[in-house]
Amino acid sequence: MIIEKADRIKNLPPYLFAKIDQMKEEVKQTGADIIDLGVGDPDLPTPPHIIAALQDAAKDPKNHCYPSYTGMIEFRDAVSKWYQKRFNVSLDSHSEVISLIGSKEGIAHIPLAFVNPDDIVLIPDPGYPVYKTATLFAGGKSHFMPLLKENHFLPDFTKIPEETLSKAKLMFLNYPNNPTAAVADRFFFEKAVQLAHQHQIIICHDAAYTEIAFDGYKPLSILEIPDAKDVAIEFHSLSKTYNMTGWRIAFAVGNPEIIAALGQVKTNIDSGVAQAIQIAGITALLGDQTPLAEIKNTYQERRDLLVAGLKEAGFEIDAPKATFYLWVNILPGFTSTKLTSHLLTEAAVVTTPGVGFGTSGEGYIRIALTVDKEKIAEVVKRIKNLGFK
Ligand SMILES: Cc1ncc(COP(=O)(O)O)c(C=O)c1O
Repeated sequence: MIIEKADRIKNLPPYLFAKIDQMKEEVKQTGADIIDLGVGDPDLPTPPHIIAALQDAAKDPKNHCYPSYTGMIEFRDAVSKWYQKRFNVSLDSHSEVISLIGSKEGIAHIPLAFVNPDDIVLIPDPGYPVYKTATLFAGGKSHFMPLLKENHFLPDFTKIPEETLSKAKLMFLNYPNNPTAAVADRFFFEKAVQLAHQHQIIICHDAAYTEIAFDGYKPLSILEIPDAKDVAIEFHSLSKTYNMTGWRIAFAVGNPEIIAALGQVKTNIDSGVAQAIQIAGITALLGDQTPLAEIKNTYQERRDLLVAGLKEAGFEIDAPKATFYLWVNILPGFTSTKLTSHLLTEAAVVTTPGVGFGTSGEGYIRIALTVDKEKIAEVVKRIKNLGFK
């Protein structure tokens, strides 16, 4: 039999990190000691009190059954309490909060709820790759909004043609931003909410990195903007905040009709987050927050070490206010792909080419701060030895 894939996946480029993994494997075969600053997966463990909550919950047979589709009410209440405390935003746990099996899952499903064939989705470029593929899977058309240094890596809404705005159904935004590490201020979110009202566009704000911020900076929730709840939902995740990427727990909050439609898609596809994991999630959100302070300090120290080292090695770079990424200008004579290949083959250091996140990402590489200080010092040594300066 001839196995014929559907058009929607036939021409899909390989998932960015799958391609990098393959290159990494090839270098590993040569015996090189690879340091991986590629994928944004925290190297630190989940705090022990969260693990203990899971262990207890896992023993209770009540938690062995199918969970509720929308999430346990106790988990959704915990999310509401956390939002109130962290952002001073009130949420109705019943209608304005839904649990997700990681925010990637919610982001991948939301276009299925709202996008008809040929509807336009506004997507940041560079951006988290799932916005684009989810749009494609729903039959929608991506309109990319360049994130440029001269605009502090914020989209310039005035550059979006009127006709595009009239056909746009959804807009993805993501601050603190992956991959540029940029942050957005209140004025930007106000403009986004105003645009959404004006053109009937649903905003999906991906807020996966709001808790990883430095030097006392506190990123905003888009829901802090008056009237945002009329047009927006926000995706949040426990993955990065509590080193829980492998646990697959996250949530979406905001406009109840948008949340309900996402729930409608999900009920037909998945059966919710395992209860024991939700119970551990409650402990993460409402329990001792000291580990989060430690996590942030750790990233901040790594950031300072690597930024200083890369500057000495000849790179131009600003220390980011949030996320655990550095968005680094490439050097003359390189493209982003050439520079990442060079760093991998000559220094056994894995980084990600900016162009992998979209054409406007060309000119940069992304470096994740997900190894310890000793390894970062080793990275700096190896890069300095390449003699760029
Ligand atoms: C911007 C952004 N959004 C969402 C996610 C997905 O996170 P999770 O599915 O673990 O919640 C990631 C993961 O790297 C990310 O970088």
